[in-house]
Amino acid sequence: MISNEKLGLFLEKTQEIAKEVGSFIRKERQGFNLKTVEHKGFNDLVSYVDKEAEKQIVDRLSVIFPEAGFITEEGTNTTRQEQFNWVIDPLDGTTNFIHGLPVYSVSIALMEYEEVVLGVVYEVNRHECFYAMKGGGAFCNDTPIRASQAETLAASLIATGFPYYNFEQIDKYLEALKFLMRSTHGLRRLGSAAVDLCYVASGRIEGYFEYNLNSYDVAAGALIVQEAGGTVTDFAGGGDYIFGRNIVATNSHIHVEFLTELIRIWS
Ligand code: IPD
Ligand code: CA
Ligand code: CA
Repeated sequence: MISNEKLGLFLEKTQEIAKEVGSFIRKERQGFNLKTVEHKGFNDLVSYVDKEAEKQIVDRLSVIFPEAGFITEEGTNTTRQEQFNWVIDPLDGTTNFIHGLPVYSVSIALMEYEEVVLGVVYEVNRHECFYAMKGGGAFCNDTPIRASQAETLAASLIATGFPYYNFEQIDKYLEALKFLMRSTHGLRRLGSAAVDLCYVASGRIEGYFEYNLNSYDVAAGALIVQEAGGTVTDFAGGGDYIFGRNIVATNSHIHVEFLTELIRIWS
């Protein structure tokens, strides 16, 4: 098992990297040329900024922890190791970035076997660095954060991500939205799963759910939610939310109520 001392050191370095790569992303946004956007698939956009940001992160993490492997969105390095792997989304919120909307982030997690032990999410335009290490609490720009105290869905603001290329489950999803519109303070679609999770962790919203996600969208943010006193599960209430492609994260108080409704609608 990795020592807390080593983890603390990695956490500091990872924050530094996320902030520096975030500055690179912010700079590249000025005068960003839409012609540089490529399509990985239908509505699945990528730019040279995503790729270059990922290369910078991978190069620097390889130096600080050469024994670890990588799971990265843009596939800069595909070496997996058994014990340690970095899980990286260099730019979470690419569609916002490309359209000039302000919500996007750098998301970096470290997994030891199946467990996330460190997570950093840097929201580029608000200069907010959210981070946590296993058992050490959650922070934003060095101030401790806690999930909200709201007790009911009726008193909650909920974020989600709209499906944009896989529409197989769209009817159930729309049912869930209809229910939530009627029974919460409202719904938001921010455009960065990592930011959604950090907003649950910092008490700005009470809950977040989305399906069709990847490990690099959620690994860092999920740990930050848990370390802030929130709860994270998959849609069935189980623990398969990193690789299982669906996630529900809440302030803990509304988890059972939210999940019960989601299971009723989704089954
Ligand atoms: C996307 C964002 C978005 C979510 C999508 C993700 P990307 O990541 O997190 O909020 O709804 O499912 O794929 O493509 O911008 O890194
Ligand atoms: Ca992403
Ligand atoms: Ca991305």
